[in-house]
This record gives sequence, C-alpha cells and structure tokens, in this order.
Amino acid sequence: MRYKVLTAAFAATAAFHLSAPAHATDLEVTHWWTSGGEAAAVAEFAKAFDASGHKWIDGAIAGSGGTARPIMISRITGGDPMGATQFNHGRQAEELVEAGLMRDLTDIAEEENWKEVVHPSSLLDSCTLDGKIYCVPVNIHSQQWLWLSNAAFEKAGVPVPTNWDEYAASAAKLEEAGIIPLAVGQQPWQTTLVFQVLLTAIAGPEAYNSIFGDKDAELAASAELTKVFEAADKARAMSAKSNVQDWNQATNMVISGQAGGQIMGDWAQGEFQVAGQVAGEDYTCLPGLGVNEVIMTGGDAFYFPVLEDEEKSAAQADLARLMLSPDVQVAFNLKKGSLPVRGDVNLEAANDCMKKGLDILAQGNIIQSPDQLMSADSLTQINDLFVEFFNDPNLTAEAAQERFVDLVANAD
Ligand code: GAL
Repeated sequence: MRYKVLTAAFAATAAFHLSAPAHATDLEVTHWWTSGGEAAAVAEFAKAFDASGHKWIDGAIAGSGGTARPIMISRITGGDPMGATQFNHGRQAEELVEAGLMRDLTDIAEEENWKEVVHPSSLLDSCTLDGKIYCVPVNIHSQQWLWLSNAAFEKAGVPVPTNWDEYAASAAKLEEAGIIPLAVGQQPWQTTLVFQVLLTAIAGPEAYNSIFGDKDAELAASAELTKVFEAADKARAMSAKSNVQDWNQATNMVISGQAGGQIMGDWAQGEFQVAGQVAGEDYTCLPGLGVNEVIMTGGDAFYFPVLEDEEKSAAQADLARLMLSPDVQVAFNLKKGSLPVRGDVNLEAANDCMKKGLDILAQGNIIQSPDQLMSADSLTQINDLFVEFFNDPNLTAEAAQERFVDLVANAD
C-alpha cells in the first residue's frame, strides 16, 4: 500500500523547512472555501505561508465554484490578477493557460521532483499543457460518497443502510418519522453530482468513463442508463422537501438528523468534524453508494497568474513548494476531508472514512472527474439539464434521458 503509516522519526525528517524569504511579501490567494470545514482547512495553508515570512491575503469568494470561477477568470483576463487561485483538477483553466496568463511552474516541479511525488499521475497530467506544468495539485476529492445520519435511522426504526437499494427502500419509513430522506442543495453542480454518482454506482465506473470520457451516446441511450435515470427519479422524490441551496446546508441537515443522508463529495467530512461528530458513531459513509467502491480523483489545484513583480513571483514559488510539502499536505487534508496527493506522508490521524478512501485508492479503483474528461461548456449544459430535472417533476426520467443522449452526442 502506497499510503503507509510512517514512523514518527521519518515524518519528522520529512517535515518541510522553508528558510526565511529574502523579500517577504503579501500574496492574495482566491478560492471558494467558505464553509466551516473548508475555512479550517484553508487556514492551514495560510498559517504555513505566514510562518514562512510572507503574508497570505485571503481572497475567499462565497457561493460555490460556479460563482467563484467566472470572477477569478475575469480578474485574470481583465488585468487584475491575484497571486494564486484555486481551480478544480482538469480543464477549467485551459483557456487561461493557452492565453499565456498562467505561470509555467515546470522548473519548480523539476526541482521538487513532482513527477515522482504526485500520485496518481493523472493529477499532474491535468496541470500539464504541451509538456509544461501550470498548477500544483493539493488534494484528491472524490464525489462518490453517501453520508448517512445514524440518529435519523434510529429514529425511523430502520437499520443504517449499507447500499443505495437499502437506502431507497428506507425512504418511506424516514418520511413517516418526519425525516427528509435525502438532502440535496439546489446549486447546479450538486444535482449533477447526484446523477454522476448514481451513474457510477449503478451502471459502473466503465459506463461512467465511456459516457463522460468517450462521449458514448449509444450507451447513454441504453437500458443500463434507463436504470440510472430511474434511480435519479427516486432521488428526486426522496429530496423533494429538502429546500436548501448550499451543499453544507444540506450536510447540516444530516448532521442534525433532519435528513437521512446526502450524496456528496468527501469535503462533507470537514463539516462533520467541525460539528464534533465521529465517523462510525454519529454518521456512516458509503463510498460508491455501497455498490461500486470507487474514488474519483478530482479535487483542487492552485494556479499562479503571470505577475510582473519579482518579489511576488518569488513568493508564488515559495507557496507552490509549500503546498506540496509533506507536513502541509497532512495538516490541510486532514481538515479538508480530502486525500493527500503524495503517498509518503503520515496519515495516522485519518478517520474511518478517510481510511476507506485511502484503501480504495491503493487498490487502484479510480476514475477521473468530469472536469478532467469533458469541456466546461459541455458540462454546463449537462448541469442545466439536471437542475431542471430535480426542480420540475413534470420532466420524466424518459424525457431527461433523451435530452442527455443529445448532450453526450454533442459534447467535447
Ligand atoms: C469542489 C472542491 C472542494 C469543495 C467543494 C465544495 O469544487 O473541489 O474542495 O470545496 O467544491 O465547495
């Protein structure tokens, strides 16, 4: 297993030591990490950067990635670049890189041996264009999880489910007990996430790859996919009364036992931790909905816009190195609920859910994120379809599947 627990002695020698920079400077870093767990995690980056002598200027943008990304992009294209900015692994920054607006980090990557250190290699591939490296992957976040409230199931008098079918079958009992079976935030990416997770669990990881990777419209039209749309229809009914927007509001419904569960990425773990809840005792996590255990190697990367300022450019390089250093990787990812991108770090403190994730990763059961496989434009159209599907009960599963087939056929 690549993610082995290291001895304290080795971990200590692996700790990152940055000598005080010749010219300490402020660096604004933009991101969309504003929930309790996210803020706690990003504070670890800020703490480490400040300890290096520079000053982290926090540029959090509230809302979601969907709100933040256009703001980040327009600042960069409009001549007001920040020092560093978050994007997801994949193609979100592709046009900025092509336009020459993002700093080439290849020299730093070579010095620091990122090719050896970053695992899986697809993460660094997503940072690479024409052989040059333009970003620092900081974590692996998988969307493929179901988070369940143990208290809600106890109240409803049904055992905590072990897979999607048992969960769907418990919906009526949960409702009788006054519990909303499934909490789903209404922002476009969240409804699409539910569909993508159901697709991977029910039709399997290969079907997911064929559809999002190979744009296989024939498979999208198949009976196998009809089953996924039927499950999405069930999820729509289970979440009909969950009237929230933000993903962390939906997580809070699970934390408080108002909802039975949420299909959400492992960043939800950050919220359970901030609320003082314990995996296995207060809540249960089912990777791959308990059906197809798989980890999606999505997550977050930092890009560094080209700046005409020598001091700030030097600070960018320091931040890039620091984000991948072993101790910062551990401190940040433990709070974030994500997995580190390097295998040679001490994860003794990982909770049960994170350990499950690490095991699945070690077995190599991985898929790439939609952002790594499909263009941002095509994904926006798919997001729009699922917003409509989850909000309009008159849009049948059959009609939604037909529209999905067209979108897949035209996707790039
Ligand atoms: C994702 C990001 C995660 C988490 C989530 C919800 O795009 O990869 O780190 O922040 O959004 O905000």
